Amino acid sequence: MSGAGRDEARVFTPGRVNLIGEHLDYNGGKVMPVALKLGLNISARKNSDGVLNVSSAQFNDQVCRALDEAANGHWSDHVLGAVKFAHTKAQGFDIRIESTLPFGSGLSSSAALSVGVTKAVRRLSEMPVNDVDAALLAQQVEHEFIGVPCGIMDQMAVSVLDSGDAMILDTESREFRLLEIPRGWRFAVHHSGVVRSLDEGRYGVRRAECEAAARTLHVDLLCHLEQRNEFCLGAQSQLAPEEVKRTRHVLSENARVKAAANSLEANSIEAFGALMNESHVSMRDDFEISTPEVDAVVEASQEAGAFGARMTGGGFGGCIVSLVSEAAFSSWNERLIALAPDCRFIC
Ligand code: GLA
Repeated sequence: MSGAGRDEARVFTPGRVNLIGEHLDYNGGKVMPVALKLGLNISARKNSDGVLNVSSAQFNDQVCRALDEAANGHWSDHVLGAVKFAHTKAQGFDIRIESTLPFGSGLSSSAALSVGVTKAVRRLSEMPVNDVDAALLAQQVEHEFIGVPCGIMDQMAVSVLDSGDAMILDTESREFRLLEIPRGWRFAVHHSGVVRSLDEGRYGVRRAECEAAARTLHVDLLCHLEQRNEFCLGAQSQLAPEEVKRTRHVLSENARVKAAANSLEANSIEAFGALMNESHVSMRDDFEISTPEVDAVVEASQEAGAFGARMTGGGFGGCIVSLVSEAAFSSWNERLIALAPDCRFIC
């Protein structure tokens, strides 16, 4: 968080890209997000009007929201929700957002907005807030104000990490370890061209399917099955066919995250890339959250020479992440754009 005196708080929150470990953060699994250089600069001041004046340079938009308003689908809901859940005294704020992060691309712009506003307004109100608390408050905004039943990965990543840092996060205990990306590796992010939104409801359907499978199999979280080594054929016969597939994704993906951390530490770019490719197949066939357009971009990235490529984030569109060597990046990127002209390089 940066300074700006007693009257103004300025906070930078980065976006994130998840390298591997999708839809595990509400199933008790491990995930591997990296904080991007792209992000949000948020500046906040108290006002005496008792309302929220919110402006965004990116949207060229300025709105005034009453503190007791309900969510209405506008992007400023994340600001209003964060102010409400920050539990500051009833107090108006002027909040200005400058962003280099594309909104609604699956790079956690919403989490960055809620986390950044939470930190800024609590700081102005001289209330304590550490990074994990800010993440939890921002998750509460999604669950109780916006209505998206997300996990904790995005909020933790954008609250705890500095730009360029990677971590392996245990989403159940919230313990994490920073990871070093070996020199010469480059994770590149492209937008697939398919716009997605978590509040379309499909995300919630997947979460409900996982929770139903966990209930049937008498575990609190699906990843607990791994510790008990229990996802045997007998257990599978108790589940609906799609629940078998969802559970298979969750358990195999969690194993892939652990293997990916080992590959990173062993500097094995081939092994890490192969795990990314497997992860995409699992999301496509077992978790069923990809789309033909996204699959085509992932395949184009692989064909252009990436060690691995996969969709990243909640699914049904958004971004893909590819692993290439730094030295090959430019020529690979040109080949990818030629093969998949609808995709857009982000970072
Ligand atoms: C979205 C959610 C996260 C996580 C990912 C999928 O980004 O906000 O909590 O579930 O999807 O891994």
